[in-house]
Order: sequence, then structure tokens, then C-alpha cells
Amino acid sequence: MSEWRVPLADVVVSEDELEAVIATYRSGWLSMGPCTEALEADFAAYVGSESAVAVSSGTAALHLICLAAGLGPRNEVIVPSLTFVATANAIRYAGATPVFADVAGLERPWLSAAAAESAIGAQTVAIMAMSYGGHPGDLAALAELASSRGLILLEDAAHGLGGRLDGRMLGTFGLAGAFSFFSNKNLPAGEGGMVVTDDPELADRVRGLRSHAMTSATWERHQGGALGYDVTGLGFNYRIDEPRAALIAAGLGGLDEANRRRAELAAEYHRRLEEVPGAAAAMTPLEGAESAHHLFTVVLDEQLDRDAARRSIEEAGIQTSVHYPPIHEFTAYAGTGGGLPLTEAYARRAITLPLFATMTEPQLQDVVTALASALAQGA
Ligand SMILES: Cc1ncc(COP(=O)(O)O)c(C=O)c1O
Repeated sequence: MSEWRVPLADVVVSEDELEAVIATYRSGWLSMGPCTEALEADFAAYVGSESAVAVSSGTAALHLICLAAGLGPRNEVIVPSLTFVATANAIRYAGATPVFADVAGLERPWLSAAAAESAIGAQTVAIMAMSYGGHPGDLAALAELASSRGLILLEDAAHGLGGRLDGRMLGTFGLAGAFSFFSNKNLPAGEGGMVVTDDPELADRVRGLRSHAMTSATWERHQGGALGYDVTGLGFNYRIDEPRAALIAAGLGGLDEANRRRAELAAEYHRRLEEVPGAAAAMTPLEGAESAHHLFTVVLDEQLDRDAARRSIEEAGIQTSVHYPPIHEFTAYAGTGGGLPLTEAYARRAITLPLFATMTEPQLQDVVTALASALAQGA
């Protein structure tokens, strides 16, 4: 569908997945219902959590874990600035304040546990980790820090689905984790999200909040199980619909294989980029870490012109991106931070290169060749 010779990401929906979606349109019920329940059971089993609650987007999942964890005004939450704006927005939706901390290094672009520790103040109640690029990053140290300082650990695992640290799934290290099924994610459904937690009360609060804090769902009433409902709080319409729940459930079975292919491609990138002067591959896997390989990024030497390099690569028909413009530099976040030298340098010097499970070896070589030629021209 895209015009790119090599796009950044690709969405391939199998015939089985299409069949599963079509079946929901024939079922006579389209919003949250039996497919959603089945997806939640499968997803909880897949990540190894007690509960999984499906919602309309990753942002909704983040918002609800912040609310259900009890975050509110005068609470500060330590969070990376090098993430999608939704991570910090969700903290603000709950009335709390994001406090940005630096990443661990130019080739370790995830929230640094040491920087998070330095950012702890009297009003800090939580740390929001983010599995940058699919990598666990400093998650073990962040979990240790949160537990030793009596802080809540939440995880934005939008990039991390299927990634593991010492065998345990990303998203399951804190009080709750949030996943996204947005169109460019490892398990894409267009839109959709999931909350996972081992805390049954938190799961119940999330279930309530996703549908206007109503005591019975429309699906239950449709089945004749409940005649009416009460509204017990201020909730939202963050429900997912059945076609997307069916698509995600059907895709879950192939996720590990797709992530394994991403891992092979990332390893190949690492090998081939050793021969390319001027660019260093970020996110070399660490001991015990099994990345979900959502993104592949390189950091250019300081004197090189990153944007000129991107233009040159894109002229070769290869899409690139930057993950991310730091949140503290956005107009809407003016005055919320700064002094994050590694985050700022990474955002100036990094390029995200194409990575997707159906990417071919010649496509990967095209990307490496285009990058090498851009840098040889002194981009
Ligand atoms: C790190 C991160 N957090 C949160 C989100 C928000 O997810 P969604 O787009 O499903 O709302 C995304 C993706 O879009 C993301 O990449």
C-alpha cells in the first residue's frame, strides 16, 4: 500500500485473521462481548498476568492504570521524556505531574534507573517505565528502586509486547502495565489497548472505568443477565469492539514467531552496521533481556547532519523516523523540564530504520547501503 520501497513498518493481515474479523460481523454483536472476553483470557495467559482488560487504545490503557493506581493532583510520576507523548499525557489526565528523567545512554535510550533515583522528590509516588524499542532497558533496577523507595511502578509496554526479562514478560513487572495495538505495533489492529495486572481490585476498577463505571455491561443485558445498572463513578467509553478483539486474538498466536524474525533482522543490522562508519546501532541486547524488537535505531556521530542523512535515505525510497522528539521540548510541555543531555543528544542524532517481521534480507541490505552512502557523502 505504501509508496516506499522499504517502509518503516508493515501491516500484514492473514486470511485466518480476516476470517476471525468477518465472523464477528456475522455474529450479531459488535461491541465488547465474547471475543473480547476470550482475548482477555488468552492475553493474560500469554503474558502470565492474573488479569487482562482490553480497551480502545494504548492511551486509554495508560490513562486507566494511572487512575486505578490512585494517581492524582500533587502526585509526581517519574517518566522518560524520550517516549510517545501519550505516556506523559496519561499522567496529566489523572491530574498528576510527569517529572522527566534522562535516558541511560546514547546506545541505551531508556529511562535510567540512576536518573530516576535522582529525580525522586517529596511528591514522587510512582515511576512509569517504558520499554523503548521493545527492550526491557533498566526495568530490573527500576523495579528494585520503586520497591526500596515505596513507589508504585507502572509500565508503558506499548513497544514491549512479547519481550522478556529473565523469562518474565514486559508489562508484568509493576502494579500494572499498558499495551497498544496501534497500526505500527508488533501486534497491530489499527487501534486498541490492554491493561495487565495481578491486582484483582485494580483490574475491577479498570473494568468499571472503561465503560462509564456502570455496574453491568450492555453485553450482559443483551444476554438477559441484568435488567438495569447503577453508575458508581466517573468513567469513560474506552471499550474495544469485537472485530478488533477478534483480530488481536487471532494475531496473538503468531506473535512470538514474528518477534523471532524481528530479532534475526536486528542481529543482522547489528552485524552489517559494524562496517558502516559514522553510525552506531543502539539497543544491543543485554544479559537476560529478550527484546520485542519493536524499533531499530542508530545514533550518528556528532558532527554528521542527521536530517540530511534522513533525506538522502528517503530519496532512496526508504522510510525513516525519529523516536522521539523529547516531550519536554513540545510547546504543550514548555517549562516542564530540560537538562536531559542524553535524551536531547539522542533525539538530535538518532534515526529509526525500517524493521518489520516480513522485511526481506535484500530490503535490509538496501537500508544499510542507503545509510552508508548518506554518511559517506558527509550527510
Ligand atoms: C510508547 C507508547 N506509549 C503509548 C502509545 C499510545 O498507544 P495508542 O496509540 O494505542 O493510544 C504508543 C503508541 O502509539 C507508544 O508508542
